[in-house]
Amino acid sequence: MSERQFSGGNIRKLWPTETNKFRDHLLRLDKENRRMRFAHGVSDAFVEDYAARMSETGALVYGYFVDGEVRAAAELKKLGIAWGREGEAAFSVEQPWQKQGIGTELMGRVIRAARNRGVQHLCVSCLAENAKMRTIANKHEAELRFEYGEVIGEIIPEGPNYFSLLAEAVDDRFGYMMAVLDLQNRVVKAA
Ligand SMILES: CC(C)(COP(=O)(O)OP(=O)(O)OC[C@H]1O[C@@H](n2cnc3c(N)ncnc32)[C@H](O)[C@@H]1OP(=O)(O)O)[C@@H](O)C(=O)NCCC(=O)NCCS
Repeated sequence: MSERQFSGGNIRKLWPTETNKFRDHLLRLDKENRRMRFAHGVSDAFVEDYAARMSETGALVYGYFVDGEVRAAAELKKLGIAWGREGEAAFSVEQPWQKQGIGTELMGRVIRAARNRGVQHLCVSCLAENAKMRTIANKHEAELRFEYGEVIGEIIPEGPNYFSLLAEAVDDRFGYMMAVLDLQNRVVKAA
């Protein structure tokens, strides 16, 4: 399996114009996965409003795309107006695409994006019972720490270096290329 391709899909950052794809992905999460994603049950209206704010808040969202649809997503959010020491991360993979390493790859992207922006504390709004997330964090040599009774885990990313900055820039170029190809495919299909 190449680093960027999984079961016919690829990972890239979403453009601000792709809010609808992000929303549709979140709406497709089944009840239990939605509860795990938001740390409590939420309505469709809540999800729609949440996704609509994605570009407004300056959040960085990675999507796992299959045939032009987002099937998994990872968000990196700043807590203030600008990127600071603290950030927030969240992850979601639709059921049929789970257990293929996509969540692990997405967390790698988010940790790297966080360190490249100087984020030193990454909060993950996640139920403490979420053992999968602990497993994934361990794979990145990060510990998802929870205070007793809390639903916010914490990851401490390393500082940025030349390689982490370069790797994100290379991924972005690849992601741009994939987005253009995806757009071309849709234009051809529509013609
Ligand atoms: C959590 C989530 C993002 C994981 O995505 P994924 O693509 O299935 O994850 P991966 O395939 O990369 O890795 C999952 C790992 O957890 C392990 N795992 C599965 N069930 C587990 C369990 N009950 N306890 C511990 N580890 C478990 C898997 O074996 C796998 O590790 P491996 O690759 O070493 O075998 C996905 O299940 C999801 O979207 N859940 C609903 C939303 C959510 O919980 N989001 C997190 C809070 S924001």
